[in-house]
Amino acid sequence: MKDSEAARLLRERINELAQISEEPDRLTRTFLSPAMESASATVGGWMREAGMETREDSVGNLVGRLPGTDPEARTLLLGSHLDTVRNAGRFDGSVGVLLPIVALQALRARGTRLPFHVEVIGFSEEEGVRFASGYLGSEGYCGCLKESTLGLRDPDGMTLREALERRNAQSFFPPAAAHERSELIGYLEVHIEQGPVLENEKLAVGVVSAIVGQSRFRIVWKGSAGHAGTTPMKLRRDALAGAAEFAVAVEKLARSTRGLVATIGTLEVPGGASNVIPGEVHHTLDIRHADPGTLRDAVRRLRALSAAIATQRSLGCSWKKTQDDRAVACSPELTARLSESVCNIQGRSVHLQSGAGHDAVVVSRIAPVAMLFVRSRNGLSHHPDEFTSVADLGVALRVVIDFLTGLAQSAA
Ligand code: HGY
Ligand code: MN
Ligand code: MN
Repeated sequence: MKDSEAARLLRERINELAQISEEPDRLTRTFLSPAMESASATVGGWMREAGMETREDSVGNLVGRLPGTDPEARTLLLGSHLDTVRNAGRFDGSVGVLLPIVALQALRARGTRLPFHVEVIGFSEEEGVRFASGYLGSEGYCGCLKESTLGLRDPDGMTLREALERRNAQSFFPPAAAHERSELIGYLEVHIEQGPVLENEKLAVGVVSAIVGQSRFRIVWKGSAGHAGTTPMKLRRDALAGAAEFAVAVEKLARSTRGLVATIGTLEVPGGASNVIPGEVHHTLDIRHADPGTLRDAVRRLRALSAAIATQRSLGCSWKKTQDDRAVACSPELTARLSESVCNIQGRSVHLQSGAGHDAVVVSRIAPVAMLFVRSRNGLSHHPDEFTSVADLGVALRVVIDFLTGLAQSAA
């Protein structure tokens, strides 16, 4: 298979996978949905075509394994997530699952067999759409799904534990880690950059040095519902007005703190109607910074601000943490190897930080991790216009093939 054919095959598969959605005219695949089952079946077929054995674990992760020629060898993990945000682009997550499969297929077509075992994982949940907490797939794979996470509820009130029991014929026990650290060479995740650095550098790919930390919360404001026509303004306890004041305070703090980003991405007025004063509001808060101390401090300040707004408006305000991940540094050794492959193929390698979260954050608990970023047009992501060219995908594919063959040579 020529490099250009492999890149085109990858692009076709990205497009085919993007057709699998739970919504008719846009791409949305959330955790444990029928669309995720169908995506897993399609990708599993491609894995088998590349010679892999496939399985699904109890949290819905799709795992393809290609045994190496040396049964005693360790395993290299590659992968990313198969779930998406609502109204997503085609490349976020899918590239990191589909590209390694095509790379292995291309090596097989050339008659190259790797000495070490390879596992490609399509994680079942990374975005945190359904339970406002991401990385559920990788946490299951790495044996670190916590009891508190299993108690989180989706917008219909179903807990994560109940959803997993439903999937597993009413019995679910949080799985142990799929591997011991000693069995693993490491984990490589290929992902679109979702930012503008590579475009500015005029480079197709770059190497990630670290992934920022992030915390997510569900916040509930309680006031008093009432008649929109008869309740005088000064007698109201409007939960939405409190949440709105808080939203502006969040933006102000993030704008004035270097490197801090904070987002209220969902907001609901349960039971709301145009002629009813909002008695209750639920919203999320996603907040990120590369420095854990600055992140902690910002959260502390926002909690204090929400309490002050609540007191002043006679509202209740409660916070529940749904996700808390520290910044993760990529492995110096694997990253150096990856940079070498990037230089071999592209002539020059740059290092960049990831402001987005990735499955690599969780997999770093069981293996050294490295990440390859591929240029995103206009740095756009979490948007249907997200775009990465077939030429850039081709460069990433050649880098991964070079990385795999380089590892094979050093293992020989
Ligand atoms: O939100 C994130 O950083 C990732 O795209 N899930
Ligand atoms: Mn994403
Ligand atoms: Mn992603």
